[in-house]
Amino acid sequence: MPTATGRVLDETSDAVDQVNILKARVRDHQELEPEASQTTKDKSQFRDYENACDRVKNFYKEQHEKQTMEFNIQARVDFRTQSRGKMSIWQAMEKLNTLVDDSDPDTDLSQIEHLLQTAEAIRRDGKPEWMQVVGLIHDLGKLLHFYNSGTGQWSIVGDTFPVGCAFSDKIIYPETFKVNPDFADSVYSTEYGIYKPNCGLDNVMMSWGHDEYLYLVLRDQCTLPEEGLAMIRYHSFYPWHREGAYTHLMNEHDYNLLQAVREFNPYDLYSKSDGSLDAATLRPYYEGLIAKFFPPTIQW
Ligand SMILES: [Fe+2]
Ligand SMILES: [Fe+2]
Repeated sequence: MPTATGRVLDETSDAVDQVNILKARVRDHQELEPEASQTTKDKSQFRDYENACDRVKNFYKEQHEKQTMEFNIQARVDFRTQSRGKMSIWQAMEKLNTLVDDSDPDTDLSQIEHLLQTAEAIRRDGKPEWMQVVGLIHDLGKLLHFYNSGTGQWSIVGDTFPVGCAFSDKIIYPETFKVNPDFADSVYSTEYGIYKPNCGLDNVMMSWGHDEYLYLVLRDQCTLPEEGLAMIRYHSFYPWHREGAYTHLMNEHDYNLLQAVREFNPYDLYSKSDGSLDAATLRPYYEGLIAKFFPPTIQW
């Protein structure tokens, strides 16, 4: 059943993507034409950016206030203790697709279409099968919407960041963390917080959302390479993969994973305008790929 809150979640998620696209555009433009900030084109680009930002600002205000260490520990306890049943990957894609009502003409792109477009763009570029599969499934963690009744969209979508140490000023709207109880905590507010220098991101607790949830679900239930799992876990970790923050928590190996996540990002962000695809036609090919990396059903 499509729900109103599913629609809101979908719209927020799209707006978050839009801001990330516009941020990249504004930055690239500034790098290419540092003197061009007076042109009309440039001004309108900034206006687009500001408008999109306005729309997501309230979302991040809530996310940054509520993503505390305490909440994140509880989210993991709930994850381990709650039963969410078994489904195949394709069933999960179909369930995710019920997030919004497809018959609504205002809906720009269904969830399944975004997943297929990401996968198809990766396939077109001749990337390995495991990466095509990652494109196909990377947002299945949004199924949290159906399980997460006590919380809200702030615990499902949006950019992610580590908890348990100081929030980086490279995170979008860093000033909104001031009302997060961890912001003034004597340990969590320090540069390293509960972590050791260069401990590796594997040992870092990421803010709870669709990325972390899907990573935890799949970690022991698939044969994807670790680069693939990193693409899933960190695809919304913009302060890291785009802004270069949190290097003090990275180990050597994380640099390889960073490269993989950066390779994946454009397929996620820029495949949305590729035109619509027919899920039924593509299904046999992708079911074949799914069978190579996953058991028939997954424990969600
Ligand atoms: Fe995502
Ligand atoms: Fe996505």
